[in-house]
Amino acid sequence: MSYLQDNKPITISKLLAMHADREKIAVLTAYDSTMSALLNRCGVEVILVGDSLGNVVQGHTSTTPVTIKEMAYHTECVARTNTQAFLIADLPFASYGDPMQALESSAELMRAGADMVKLEGGTWQIDVIQYLVERSVPVCAHLGLLPQSVHLLGGYKVQGKSKDDATHMLEQAHACEAAGAQMLVLEAIPSALGEMITKSLRIPTIGIGAGPNCSGQVLVLPDMLGISPGKPPKFVKDFMADHSSIEAAIKAYVKEVKSGKFPGPEHSFAS
Ligand code: KIV
Repeated sequence: MSYLQDNKPITISKLLAMHADREKIAVLTAYDSTMSALLNRCGVEVILVGDSLGNVVQGHTSTTPVTIKEMAYHTECVARTNTQAFLIADLPFASYGDPMQALESSAELMRAGADMVKLEGGTWQIDVIQYLVERSVPVCAHLGLLPQSVHLLGGYKVQGKSKDDATHMLEQAHACEAAGAQMLVLEAIPSALGEMITKSLRIPTIGIGAGPNCSGQVLVLPDMLGISPGKPPKFVKDFMADHSSIEAAIKAYVKEVKSGKFPGPEHSFAS
């Protein structure tokens, strides 16, 4: 008996091979079907349905109000027109407090079309990561600046600056990989730490403000189109500044990520 096949060309095996071959991975966020279709046409390899939708779609000042139902709704919208890209969806704040809850939340996102779920946190999430992976839920971990912890951190600040913090983050990255995570987002950390973590892992790292030597890069879509209100973070480049269409800006992003041109030193943090 043959089964209907999901013929999307970008699989986790392909992404692991790209990391091994040092081929850069171009990632962007999307929250709706129109942008998902466009990102596919532009060659974006991974789409993240980020809980940043709390900021850029819903107008909240943090991601903490976003619910699992809202994440599942936006994941469905993106999945409908996603023909090529690997699709990651964020587990939102307080939806993975223990392994059982994490499994239920992940199942909602995977039923909506996610290929992988992303969760924020290090060693304190190891049990959750292991539980999910043992039950066939692919997991992307997220270290560095954790937007869901912004109220605890007292703001959006660069992480891993001291030697102790950097060592601790490296240990956490290894613990996530050992627990079965197959990808790792690194947010707002010094470039040297991003490089050190990337070189020491078998799984791809996706940087956002983590320097040029991660396996791939991600930006929040409205940020890289220069349409988010307020002053953008240092790691954001406005790709619309030099392009007259959204499609051209996204294609330029993919090209610059893949060639290593983006991010430059002006988008990165020193130790
Ligand atoms: O929610 C999001 O868009 C993210 C990125 C900042 C990596 O997690």
